[in-house]
Amino acid sequence: MDKLIITGGARLNGEIRISGAKNAALPILAATLLADGPVTVANLPHLHDITTMIELFGRMGIEPVINEKLAVEIDPRTIKTLIAPYELVKTMRASILVLGPMVARFGEAEVALPGGCAIGSRPVDLHIRGLEAMGATIDVEGGYIKAKAPEGGLRGANFFFDTVSVTGTENIMMAAALAKGRTVLQNAAREPEVVDLAHFINAMGGNVQGAGTDTIIIEGVERLHSATYKVMPDRIETGTYLVAAAVTGGRVKLKDTDPTILEAVLDKLREAGAEVTTGADWIELNMHGKRARAVNLRTAPYPAFPTDMQAQFISLNAVAEGTGAVIETVFENRFMHVYELLRMGAHILVEGNTAVVTGVAGLKGAPVMATDLRASASLVLAALVAEGDTLIDRIYHIDRGYECIEEKLQMLGAKIRRVPG
Ligand code: EPU
Repeated sequence: MDKLIITGGARLNGEIRISGAKNAALPILAATLLADGPVTVANLPHLHDITTMIELFGRMGIEPVINEKLAVEIDPRTIKTLIAPYELVKTMRASILVLGPMVARFGEAEVALPGGCAIGSRPVDLHIRGLEAMGATIDVEGGYIKAKAPEGGLRGANFFFDTVSVTGTENIMMAAALAKGRTVLQNAAREPEVVDLAHFINAMGGNVQGAGTDTIIIEGVERLHSATYKVMPDRIETGTYLVAAAVTGGRVKLKDTDPTILEAVLDKLREAGAEVTTGADWIELNMHGKRARAVNLRTAPYPAFPTDMQAQFISLNAVAEGTGAVIETVFENRFMHVYELLRMGAHILVEGNTAVVTGVAGLKGAPVMATDLRASASLVLAALVAEGDTLIDRIYHIDRGYECIEEKLQMLGAKIRRVPG
């Protein structure tokens, strides 16, 4: 297993490009299954989760073609089996995103039920109930969700999400795109990735309105056609590099991103003392060598502060001046990074869903272990400011969501290297 070795202390300074968004690319790849001709998806990040989704397509008999510009072309008409096997689903929960499109387009699907998860229980009951509301019959047998559309195909329905769910909203939205009649989704997720997926469905000839609000209206269409689509920038990668500059007192300019999709994060960075300037597709953060001030924050669905940035801000608070309370309301077990940060000398007290972080003057490098994607990002950030070397184990978690992390950090002046293990 590869490891990262980071020698802390370098003040970051430079410019890098932000990659396409993992959490938009995954549902968009799943939605290609809805089309009745080849679809090309561009700006896909080079990440382990994307490779897993492509491998899943391969298992179903579809062979995605990668062109010279690294865009992927998928022809869903070549599908041979409608099964998403457990070996793949257990490595990536987002595989559940093929359920809605397969039932809508091919009338049936078997998708392994994702198991437990490092950040919380993460059930998929809302995905199942949404499809049932559209007339699908669903049985869970042998660890698989076996879904069948009714005679004549899925029917539009009114569905209320009693918890806001990002992939739940996406799954039902994709299914509704080819259902008969109108579907109204209430208490829908408003994340920018949901909006990107709606734009993609509409680019294939679909009719989705209201994405980005809590009520999404989908008029089902007979067929969706070929299209070419460019995935939006990754707001969590963007936020992570901004925090990297902030913790080191440095400056970073991020290109090919979008400042309007992470306003809650930019506000918190300003509150922490950073100077943040933005243009249409870039963000620059300058800390002018200062130490950050600790901030209080509470995660919640978009447009509130994202749970996917919580771990990184715990690292920021860990070296900031003062004390900040971080409340996690989306997942029940997303503080695993705290116990690794304690090994580096952080002062953090966890009580229920709240972490009270008192900044220390300096962290010390230590061997630590990544437990999930964003937790591992927070360890990288802490290591960038820690005294001496930090060895981060299990970095396959990082490779799921951060494209070329060591190259990008090296370009900003960090001392980071990968050691194959
Ligand atoms: N929930 C249910 N029932 C469901 C679905 C969700 O109770 O059927 C609960 C979950 O247990 C959780 C809450 O609803 O407490 C929100 O979960 P959500 O369904 O929104 O999460 P998700 O769709 O599985 C996506 C991202 C996550 C991100 C969350 C929250 C993708 C592929 N994943 O997950 O990203 O943390 O939304 O914003 O879009 C990451 O990139 O590191 C990551 C974990």
